[in-house]
Amino acid sequence: MTGTIASRPQGSEASILGLGVYRPERVVSNEEIIERIDSTDEWIRSRSGIENRRFAGDETVADMGADAAGKALAAAGITPSDVDVMIVATSTGLNQTPSVAAEVDVRLGTGGAAAFDVGAACAGFCHGLALANDMVRAGTARNVLVIGVEKLSTFLNRDDRSTAFIFGDGAGAVVVGPATSSGIGPVVWGSDSSGLAHIRQDLPWDETFAQPDGPRWPYIEMDGNPVFRWAAFEMAKAGLRALEVAGVTVDRLDAFVPHQANMRITDAMARSMKLPDTVAIARDIAHQGNTSAASIPLALDRMITEGQVRSGDLALVIGFGAGLVYAGQVIRVP
Ligand code: COA
Repeated sequence: MTGTIASRPQGSEASILGLGVYRPERVVSNEEIIERIDSTDEWIRSRSGIENRRFAGDETVADMGADAAGKALAAAGITPSDVDVMIVATSTGLNQTPSVAAEVDVRLGTGGAAAFDVGAACAGFCHGLALANDMVRAGTARNVLVIGVEKLSTFLNRDDRSTAFIFGDGAGAVVVGPATSSGIGPVVWGSDSSGLAHIRQDLPWDETFAQPDGPRWPYIEMDGNPVFRWAAFEMAKAGLRALEVAGVTVDRLDAFVPHQANMRITDAMARSMKLPDTVAIARDIAHQGNTSAASIPLALDRMITEGQVRSGDLALVIGFGAGLVYAGQVIRVP
């Protein structure tokens, strides 16, 4: 009982060094979606802001994640062997085990990085970012890949009008690595389990086999309205807390990149937070739908590509979703 345990030397400040995304090729219009639900293009656009989404074809969650990760490594100017830890945020991997991160590792060939998944639904990317930031700062890792990836089309009931139009597929990844000054603010995160059942898989796996008419595939179900109200009000408060702990006032903020759940949620949050017009607001949902854990890096990528933000700008990112869980922080755009 007298031994001591050595600690690692502290690391350095951390920042996002590179970003990469994967957008599946197939664009799915609202017209295609309403072939199977009682709805209209106008209703979907005005209630959610979605014009199109993309559905993956044969590519798996790991394929999409590896593609985005490869691009993030290239953007950061590092190789797979430089990666110490790989974190994959996803809810749509089809194997209970091994993890999607381990599968991505096989495709990337890091040569032995630690690899694990984070299950925090639409908030998964920001959870991964918080872990990566703390790892680099603590000296646990030098370079961490954080990948948000989803193939939600797999779990979409195309005949359910409360979900069929919302979700899409895609992947986004960032490299978090050492920096001379902080590029990722402290995370503000938490949960509200009173909303545990609001977004759910409609059948647990064991019950999928015990259906009276034989096995049936499980789908995502959602009580859209309570989620909408929770997100619009509570997440604005969490966003303001993330700004406060980062010491960033709204007038110093350049961009707001919330989880792309619904354009009206984004607008309600921006209004509640009293963001000035100078803050660019992510609206990738119009073209990508809600891609859960992938939505924030995908949305950030569009803002960079379209020139709405520049390298070095300050952005508030915040993810929220099933659980209900959330996480957000201020980041410097890579
Ligand atoms: N097409 C046409 N009408 C629809 C419809 C559809 N696809 N879905 C619902 N409606 C109808 C409802 O039946 C209701 O009709 P009524 O007023 O005659 O009763 C009306 O539209 C309003 O329904 P409501 O559910 O209150 O709509 P809403 O304004 O909350 O919008 C969502 C619905 C799903 C777009 C919205 O709640 C949402 O985006 N929630 C967040 C969901 C989310 O992003 N979750 C993922 C994780 S964050």
